[in-house]
Amino acid sequence: MILLAPMEGLLDHMLRDTLTRVGGVDRCVSEFIRVTDQLLPRRVFTRIVPELLDGGRTRAGVPVRAQLLGSDPQCLAENAARLAELDPEGIDLNFGCPAKTVNRHRGGAVLLDEPELVGEIVAAVRRAVPAHLPVSAKMRLGNEDRERMLDCARAIEAAGASELVVHGRTKRDGYKPPAYWDQIAVVREAVAIDVVANGEVWTVEDALRCLRESGCHSLMLGRGMVADPGLALALRAALGTSAAGTSSVEGAATAGALPWAEMLPLMAGFFAQVRRKVATRHQAGRLKQWLHYLRRRYPEAEDTYQRVRTINAPDLLALTLFGDALDPQAPPEGGDEDDLVDASTACEADDALDRPTDSDQRQDSDTLIAA
Ligand SMILES: Cc1cc2nc3c(=O)[nH]c(=O)nc-3n(C[C@H](O)[C@H](O)[C@H](O)COP(=O)(O)O)c2cc1C
Repeated sequence: MILLAPMEGLLDHMLRDTLTRVGGVDRCVSEFIRVTDQLLPRRVFTRIVPELLDGGRTRAGVPVRAQLLGSDPQCLAENAARLAELDPEGIDLNFGCPAKTVNRHRGGAVLLDEPELVGEIVAAVRRAVPAHLPVSAKMRLGNEDRERMLDCARAIEAAGASELVVHGRTKRDGYKPPAYWDQIAVVREAVAIDVVANGEVWTVEDALRCLRESGCHSLMLGRGMVADPGLALALRAALGTSAAGTSSVEGAATAGALPWAEMLPLMAGFFAQVRRKVATRHQAGRLKQWLHYLRRRYPEAEDTYQRVRTINAPDLLALTLFGDALDPQAPPEGGDEDDLVDASTACEADDALDRPTDSDQRQDSDTLIAA
């Protein structure tokens, strides 16, 4: 199984749509929906996971599991029950977010200091939703250290989760390489449920090594898929397994990465969606954010990024990047503010970006993260 990682502020439904069309992904997990002390209205779930209005799948037919983040078992359970009415493919629980705002309110990775509470949360959610609906969890190796790593994993299993994704770093490790795939193996050996390995997989070689070192059969790909949308297909080709998602881009499986010429229409399609759904002032930032990641895999993206990094007008950006290939359906003005990602809840920080940033890039990254 190859899963597409949740990435709040980066991998939203528009990029999920784009990446799952390339193919090779079996399932997605949505970015987190934060639960504090209220029963959220349905529209919050469908805004973050609009696939819920479409059978719980991306347009390429790949199922999307919705992720909840919070620390109050009862409130999470009530929200999970409401979410279940929208018939998601499953519900995932976040025990890995390192963001200060979230951690201050006792959510995300800090919960890994409290295995009993982690267990209570999973158990409460499991009880609140129909038995056929999978409940899974995603954790880091710990908060400050790995001391309670196995207690957490065992609590998650005992509480009835069917699957556990392990990002092979503690919160303290942040996003600094390496990810400790050998520690994922330690977790896998301690529980009987499926463990999915995650963290720092950028290439097929990384993926094969991660599978070997963790002993897992499933991987979750995050930034690696954003930097190289052909990665899941290329991995499948290397493993000799067939893609579960549909592939609309020919040749990816054999080439190992999509040629840059095929990336441009993908980006144009993504930007057309952005222009329909995101406020005008944030549109250029969304595309440049993706381009920023693509630089890691494509030398062409570096040149392109340098050409467009100061362009903030969506029309000019589209013209510069896509010229005549611009999607004719893109409206001249975008702007549904409601569809904007709430930057205040952004889970991950700049250090998730894989390159050191100079001051220009820093400025861009700030705009991007805020988008
Ligand atoms: C910008 C960003 C946002 C993220 N948001 C979430 C999130 O909403 N929920 C979650 O469980 N993990 C989140 N993560 C963590 C990723 O799912 C993943 O565990 C991490 O990036 C390591 O995998 P990778 O090296 O393949 O990217 C986020 C990571 C990044 C970089």
